[in-house]
Amino acid sequence: MVAENLLTPADLIWPAFILEAADKTEDIATMPGVQRLGIEKLVARAKEAQELGVSAIALFPVVPTSKKTEGGEESFNPMNLICNATKRIKEAAPEIGIITDVALDPYTTHGHDGLLDDDKILNDETIEVLCKQALNQAKAGADIIAPSDMMDGRVAAIRQALDAEGFEDVAIMSYAAKYASCFYGPFRDAVGSKSALKGDKKTYQMSPANTDEAIREVQLDIAEGADMVMVKPGMPYLDIVRRVKERFNVPTFAYQVSGEYAMLRHAADQGCFDFETSLMESLLGFKRAGCNGILTYGALDAAKLLKS
Ligand code: PBG
Repeated sequence: MVAENLLTPADLIWPAFILEAADKTEDIATMPGVQRLGIEKLVARAKEAQELGVSAIALFPVVPTSKKTEGGEESFNPMNLICNATKRIKEAAPEIGIITDVALDPYTTHGHDGLLDDDKILNDETIEVLCKQALNQAKAGADIIAPSDMMDGRVAAIRQALDAEGFEDVAIMSYAAKYASCFYGPFRDAVGSKSALKGDKKTYQMSPANTDEAIREVQLDIAEGADMVMVKPGMPYLDIVRRVKERFNVPTFAYQVSGEYAMLRHAADQGCFDFETSLMESLLGFKRAGCNGILTYGALDAAKLLKS
């Protein structure tokens, strides 16, 4: 009766990794408890997520090496994994929102989110490809387009590209304050971009030392037309969530990223504490910081606990 903050299944967004082999599941060594799922398995889990009241699924493809290129062209193939999964989930679980990631890293041979010239990121050339990727996802039925690439000016360009094709109702959730973080390690394992990644992403992701820069990035993305903004990673950056929330009147999300989830899992596996208790406590922390929603690999676990 006196709880100031309440976690509900509708606060939760479940990030899922899609495998090309439709009936297969694969474990991810660095992230126990999370699996890459073939489309058939994913559809079954999506139905379960819908029943549990989880609000959305964020889709990430595991692209076979044979389809990775310098230019990441598979990202705008209308038959790619993301488009197929989006269509299938829409048929099977129409109530659940579909969030698709806009960035080239799963599709490029070098593992970067943008196009490269030697080792320099080409901002403007990348944006053209990101617009094609976003349109491709909207045509397949995505509800929310989530640019995670951190190129400058991409939100405005994507908004324009979507509107020009009649997708005014497709929302943009920008990864507005995305830090260059070691906590993405297990994700890069999961999508297979870790071994490919040349160098690091520090020229386009933010320095963990900065706060004001995050506010500027959020402000720019809102001005460019973002409907919602995200802070990422989550737990080490809840001060940023709080500042964004207090300053701007937009729905604010945070991503409890792969390394954060893995940290809880591994610690629980070592007997440090109970996994479920640690998950729920950490998610409540996001609510306390002011999040309107949380992306977490524990979405289904947490939703089940909330229902029971
Ligand atoms: C890539 C992307 C990353 C994540 C989401 N989209 C990794 C990166 O920037 O290297 C990380 C998510 C996670 O760690 O769970 N554009």
